[in-house]
Amino acid sequence: MKSSLTYFATIVAISVLLFTIVPTNACEQSCRTGISLAFGDNYSKEVKVLFVEFKKRLQDNLSNGFTGSVSSSARSSCNKVIEEETDKFEDTFTGNFAKLIEDSIFNQSPQFKGQCQHPLRVNQPPAGVAWTMDDCQNQDYICGNPPAVCHFMDQYVKPRNVKNVNESLKDRLSPNGSFFSTLSRAIIISAAKSNIKANDLPSFATVAEKNILDTFSGFVDYFAQEFCKGTTCDKYDHDIKVKLLSYP
Ligand SMILES: *[C@@H]1O[C@H](CO)[C@@H](O)[C@H](O)[C@H]1NC(C)=O
Ligand SMILES: *[C@@H]1O[C@H](CO)[C@@H](O)[C@H](O)[C@H]1NC(C)=O
Ligand SMILES: *[C@@H]1O[C@H](CO)[C@@H](O)[C@H](O)[C@H]1NC(C)=O
Ligand SMILES: *[C@@H]1O[C@H](CO)[C@@H](O)[C@H](O)[C@H]1NC(C)=O
Repeated sequence: MKSSLTYFATIVAISVLLFTIVPTNACEQSCRTGISLAFGDNYSKEVKVLFVEFKKRLQDNLSNGFTGSVSSSARSSCNKVIEEETDKFEDTFTGNFAKLIEDSIFNQSPQFKGQCQHPLRVNQPPAGVAWTMDDCQNQDYICGNPPAVCHFMDQYVKPRNVKNVNESLKDRLSPNGSFFSTLSRAIIISAAKSNIKANDLPSFATVAEKNILDTFSGFVDYFAQEFCKGTTCDKYDHDIKVKLLSYP
């Protein structure tokens, strides 16, 4: 009896010790999701601006080189299709940002994970209290806590996020991607319904598909140059850091 109580007491003591020394200061799932959503929400605004240009290019170039006649009603119904389909595409693209950014920060190398005890640079604040900007400054090596992600924001986190967003666009706008077929089909259907002459339709379709692909490819390059160019996205840094440091 006595010995089993002693045994029990030892187990309790060891568990307490274990839970005391196991660090809790890793960016947990709520933190990962929160920080990824924060980036995603803010970066979507930059995408919106660039997509205005994307739509304009698609509309302006759609029938370049087509020798038949395009009535103004056919043109305006094609423009409307471009507007609607591009908006849907933008929603799908930016809707995936949180996932994309979570992968970028926490799964790509160097990964923001692992213990932050060796050496200990910052002390975890009490529950409900945020980390400070000093913690962000002091956590000067990569590990799993929010201050580490904050510290390496400019060096690793932002460039990686930007690169991933820009590569994701390139994939989605590839000639074998679903947006190309969705958009081409919708445009050809709308051209067929408006009064483009029936025997002009095949050549219109050929011209439109080529122009769409050229516009996609030009826009992928434009986007890679313009998205978060220079200091454009720095305006989000403060909000994102505050959000990040609010997680335990
Ligand atoms: C960034 O996004 C958050 C919402 O997640 C928003 O509250 C904040 O105003 C945005 N920051 C800027 C500078 O637009
Ligand atoms: C954007 O992606 C392209 C590939 O589409 C790549 O060549 C370029 O370096 C990327 N730009 C940035 C800033 O990551
Ligand atoms: C799409 O085409 C690219 C080359 O342009 C290729 O690398 C990629 O694997 C293709 N994707 C699919 C889903 O077929
Ligand atoms: C399409 O039209 C725009 C004007 O809106 C132009 O700047 C662009 O270079 C054209 N070509 C392509 C391939 O996008």
